[in-house]
Amino acid sequence: MNKLNKCLIKRYHKSSVPIWFMRQAGRYLPEFRKIRKSNSDFIKLCLNPTLSSKISLQPLKRFNLDAAIIFSDILIVPYGLGQKVTFNKTGPKLSKFDLQDFSRMNENKFLKKIEPVYKSIKITRRKLNKEKCLISFVGGPWTLLIYMLDLKKKNNTLNIRKFKKYSNKIDFILKRIDKFLKIHINKQMSSGADALQIFDSWSGLIPKAKLHKYSFNPNKKIVQYCKRKGFPVICFPKGLKKNYKGFVNFVKPNGINIDYDIKPEWARDNLKKVCIQGGLDPKLLLGNEKKLLLTVDKFVKTFSNTHYIFNLGHGILPQTKPRTIEKIIKRVKENEN
Ligand code: CP3
Repeated sequence: MNKLNKCLIKRYHKSSVPIWFMRQAGRYLPEFRKIRKSNSDFIKLCLNPTLSSKISLQPLKRFNLDAAIIFSDILIVPYGLGQKVTFNKTGPKLSKFDLQDFSRMNENKFLKKIEPVYKSIKITRRKLNKEKCLISFVGGPWTLLIYMLDLKKKNNTLNIRKFKKYSNKIDFILKRIDKFLKIHINKQMSSGADALQIFDSWSGLIPKAKLHKYSFNPNKKIVQYCKRKGFPVICFPKGLKKNYKGFVNFVKPNGINIDYDIKPEWARDNLKKVCIQGGLDPKLLLGNEKKLLLTVDKFVKTFSNTHYIFNLGHGILPQTKPRTIEKIIKRVKENEN
C-alpha cells in the first residue's frame, strides 16, 4: 500500500509525512502552460485522456511527491449535468441553470459526457509508480450549488436574495447532486483512484444556523458512501474556522485538510481520530524563503505525534516558483531524518 493511504487508514504506525500539493498540476508549471496555450477550451482539455494524464504526471516528473491528483475540475460534474462551463479572467462561468434539463439528466447521459476522465485515471494509474497514491476528487455539494446557481456575489459573499429565490428547490437540487457525485466517485474509484478529496471550497459562506444542513450532512453522506466501499476520503471544508471540530466529530472522514486560517496547534489539540492534512498558507510560498522553511518545520513538528500529510491551506498560487515547491519537499523529508 502507498504511503499516503497508510497514513489515511492508520492501520500502520506513523513512520513518515507523505507530501503532495493542492493544484500541483497547474498554472505555476511552465510545461502545463505550454499545453494550455494550445488548448484554449479548458473542459475539453480535462476530457482529453492523453493530455490530462500527462498533466497529472508532470509534477511527479519534477518533484519527489507521494501523490498525483487527477487533472480535471470540480466543475466537470455540472458540465456532465448539462451546463456549459467556460473560464475567463474573473473565474468560471456556467450557462444558466435549467431545472428541467437538470431533472431530466440520467446516469448514462451523464457518464457519456465525462467518460474520458475515467480513461485518464486508468492511464495515469498504469504509468504511476505503485508507491504513489492517485487522488481523485469532487466538489462538495454546497460548493457545486454555489457555482451551478451562481449564488456568489463579486465580493465573494452569498447572494442571499438569489438563494431565497431558489429556496423551495434547493433540497431537490442537492439530493440530485449527491446522487451524481456518488456515480462519479464510484467510477473514479473503479478506474484506479486510491483516495478521494472533497473540495468544499465555499463552506465559509454557509449561514451558521445552516451548517448541518449544507455542510455536515451532505459531506457525511459522501464520506459514508466512500467508507462502505473502503475508499479513503479527505474532506476540505474551507473556511469553517472553529467549526472544523464539529465537522470532524460528525462527518468522521479519514483525512481533514485544514485551511490557512486554522492554527496547527489548535488543529492538533481539537481534531481527533483523523489524519490531518495541509494548513500552510500558499502566500508564504511567494515571500521570504527562510520564514517559509521555518514555518514548514513548525507544521511538521506540531504534528509529529499524529498522522499528518503535508500540503497547503489552499491551492498553489500561479505565481509560485517551481523551485520553491522543491525546497519545501526537501525540507519536509529532512525533518523526517
Ligand atoms: O492540480 C490539481 O489540483 C488538479 C486539478 C484541479 C483543478 N481544479 C484544475 C484547474 C483541481 C483539484 C481543481 C479543484 C477546483 N476547481 C476547486 C477546489 C479547490 C479550490 O481552489 O478551492 C474549485 C473551486 C474549482 C473551480 C475552478 N476551476 C476555478 C475557480 C477556476 C479558475 C481559477 C483558478 O483557481 O485557477 C478553475 C480553473 C482551473 N482548474 C485551472 C486549473 C489548472 C486553471 C485553468 C487555466 O489554465 O486557466
